[in-house]
Amino acid sequence: RRSGIKELLVATNLDREVLVKGWVRTRRGNKYVQFIALNDGSTIHNLQVVASAELFPEENLKDVATGASVAVRGTLVASQGKGQTVEIQALEITVLGKADPEEYPLQKKGHSLEFLREIAHLRPRTNTFGAVLRVRHALAFAVHEYFNKNGFYYVHTPIITGSDAEGAGQMFRVTTLAPEHPPRTADGSVDFSEDFFGKPTNLTVSGQLEGEIAAMALGKIYTFGPTFRAENSNTARHLAEFWMIEPEMAFYELEDNMDLAEDFLKSLVRYALAHCADDLQFLNDQYDKELLVRLNSVVETEFQRLTYTEAVEILKTAKQKFEFPVGWGTDLQSEHERYLVEKHFKKPVILTDYPKEVKSFYMKLNEDGRTVRAMDVLFPGIGEIIGGSQREEDYTKLITRMAEMHVPAEDLWWYLDLRKFGTAPHSGFGLGFERLVLFVTGMANIRDVIPFPRYPKNAAF
Ligand code: 4AD
Ligand code: MG
Repeated sequence: RRSGIKELLVATNLDREVLVKGWVRTRRGNKYVQFIALNDGSTIHNLQVVASAELFPEENLKDVATGASVAVRGTLVASQGKGQTVEIQALEITVLGKADPEEYPLQKKGHSLEFLREIAHLRPRTNTFGAVLRVRHALAFAVHEYFNKNGFYYVHTPIITGSDAEGAGQMFRVTTLAPEHPPRTADGSVDFSEDFFGKPTNLTVSGQLEGEIAAMALGKIYTFGPTFRAENSNTARHLAEFWMIEPEMAFYELEDNMDLAEDFLKSLVRYALAHCADDLQFLNDQYDKELLVRLNSVVETEFQRLTYTEAVEILKTAKQKFEFPVGWGTDLQSEHERYLVEKHFKKPVILTDYPKEVKSFYMKLNEDGRTVRAMDVLFPGIGEIIGGSQREEDYTKLITRMAEMHVPAEDLWWYLDLRKFGTAPHSGFGLGFERLVLFVTGMANIRDVIPFPRYPKNAAF
């Protein structure tokens, strides 16, 4: 029976025979003994395999090279070496798959993250990406656990949709039209009415609107799936394909929404600290010496809540020079958000009540007629991590906002119906999953926290 390396490293019953399989990270040694560092992906730590020259003359080990997969049968013993408590004295080593050192790109050390992006099929085998992918997994699991514990139902919203949930026109078109001879209208232009099921369709930018349907029936729901934005942004915070978590709750007002967002984020970070200690320690030591301090502080600190209007006043009197000017009515840039979080308050910030012009059509209009019940959660090093709002539940106000913002009512008749039949106050938000993983891992670029990043000119595989 094969043992996993993670369990063997903490095993207390020693001096027994075990079988392990994994990939060779390094092999080093002298003419008496060779040391093989073996990793099977279950943990950041390697298991040391000791191969004595009596049993394994060095020339027999030449295929036991970095990247090769091997099976090792041997005795699990206490280790004298530093950095590990156990090791395996090898009795039998079988190479399952060779990795020619002349060709295998991941040799011992020193690959840039940019280079690793070009070999997305091999980078999961590095310490860094192993750690990031395990943390990503733990956070996804924590999302489901949190909602399940708190009475939310997981709803699967569609990826192909006929509507633009954000009304921002950033959609990828989905088409079944043959590009070489698409159907044409009388004036010669492409007839998109012949598109998918006779209707133009897109990849979803957000599951929110369908989430609202479910919340108005099940009370508290969440979605967690891929979303797409056809924006040409080449930044360290944007992807064309990212995963979003969107809770939506009937009978929640903006304060309830903020309370949930804060509790949710803290509980996810707490989960990672409790369950990914080794991986986070590695990332802390390797990339970002402040990582663990920052994660622990977010869990402890009460987030700062203030309105957009108050934030603009702070920014206007800030000593720092901004590239983009600040004025009431214009959207905040990430330099402004980061100033508030990192320089002014030095903790996470929740900004509310933005001017209606800079936010989406579905947000509830305030009494003042100028601002909406929006909330953005801003995090250190990240900027906006959550965007959400209380939704407009009044039919007449909603249809007026849609007209003002040129959102076609005929596409959203079903969304308007929710305001005709048993409407109720409700709220929700979207957490960008990769921005969360970015924050928790301390990585610098969002392209390094998703296995297969999609960004302009990059979707090879
Ligand atoms: O602020 P956004 O656009 O809000 C919505 O989509 C709402 N429908 C959410 C809701 O209320 N249910 O996006 C929400 C979050 C952002 O705060 C950010 O974390 C992330 O999604 N996000 C992106 N992440 C990576 N790449 C992009 N291009 C992103 N755009 C948004
Ligand atoms: Mg937003």
